[in-house]
Amino acid sequence: MKKCLFALSGLMVLGSLVACGGSGENVEGTPADTEEVVGDFDATMARETYEAACIACHGGNLEGGAGPQLTDGAYSYEEIIHAIEHGKGAMPPQNVDQEEAENLAKWIEAQ
Ligand code: HEC
Repeated sequence: MKKCLFALSGLMVLGSLVACGGSGENVEGTPADTEEVVGDFDATMARETYEAACIACHGGNLEGGAGPQLTDGAYSYEEIIHAIEHGKGAMPPQNVDQEEAENLAKWIEAQ
């Protein structure tokens, strides 16, 4: 009888810590790459709000129409917010989200 010793050398497979190094996929807000963001407002969003709610009376370039021109700092942030929320004279109050209204007002003020 033969005694065969089969020494099974256990392969110590140390799984090397495969850390997927690419930790950098933090999506912190999408950069607005279509229009420049100046100051503290989103120009793209402001444009959209403007076109939805104001363009009919204030013109495609805020130059005025049924309503007055809004460019060249004609109105302050507060006046714009007030006009949106409460209307002004012949202008009816506009049904715009507060967040959108604030963004829009900052944008208009900068035009
Ligand atoms: C239905 C037409 C109409 C729409 C829509 C409209 N406006 Fe006006 N807006 C006017 C008119 C008319 C006036 C002038 C009111 C007056 O002085 O009698 C005016 C005045 C204003 C003023 C001047 C307020 C002041 O203190 O004298 C601002 C600012 C303004 N609008 C912003 C906006 C913004 C921002 C929007 C969109 C969210 C908007 N308007 C939508 C007609 C409109």
